[in-house]
Amino acid sequence: MTHDARQTTLQSILALAPVVPVVIIDDVAHAVPMARALVAGGIPAIEVTLRTDAALDAIRAIANEVDGACVGAGTVLTSAQLEAAGHAGARFAVSPGTSPRLLDAADQSELPLLPGAASASEAMTLLERGHALQKFFPASAAGGPALLKALSSPLPAIRFCPTGGITARNAGEYLSLPNVVCVGGSWLTPRDLLEAGAWTAIEALAREAAALR
Ligand code: 3PG
Repeated sequence: MTHDARQTTLQSILALAPVVPVVIIDDVAHAVPMARALVAGGIPAIEVTLRTDAALDAIRAIANEVDGACVGAGTVLTSAQLEAAGHAGARFAVSPGTSPRLLDAADQSELPLLPGAASASEAMTLLERGHALQKFFPASAAGGPALLKALSSPLPAIRFCPTGGITARNAGEYLSLPNVVCVGGSWLTPRDLLEAGAWTAIEALAREAAALR
């Protein structure tokens, strides 16, 4: 797949719903029922962060067993993680920031990468490498909607998925910005609901998120 084709694929994944849930999975048994609840609530693109031992198995289970889900790998920091995510069945990858080595690896990978930026210089460096779709992280700590608004005039070609500090309360403010394609966040899948197997509650949070735009 060419870089442009990967960008087009990523654009259509990010356009599936207003929110991409950022999930930390400790128990692989939670993966499939959680993903089914998110999909049932109208949230098909799901980012499983590679922060736990269960993450790759969770991605594999969701990819194999959940109709309608589009599972991606988050917190991808290295080329080895990018490769492992692809082998597990991830359809996209997300990184909190950017490194030249990770960008080189992404150029050689089939997996579309949503790389992270938190400043004009980082965003420009990514744009130079052909990444017009970027994660804006950590969104609220780096400057929130005000910073995104300020970036939109000099950098109109870039579309962001802000994550970090976003909740049901402030998501709408981000989504109303012209340079925001969707937002990401962990509020749809809090650890206590996962541990309790509260799938109906997760579905309700997903439904509320899907209606944000
Ligand atoms: C992350 O990578 O941890 C995400 O940005 C989620 O942040 P949140 O927990 O503040 O939603």
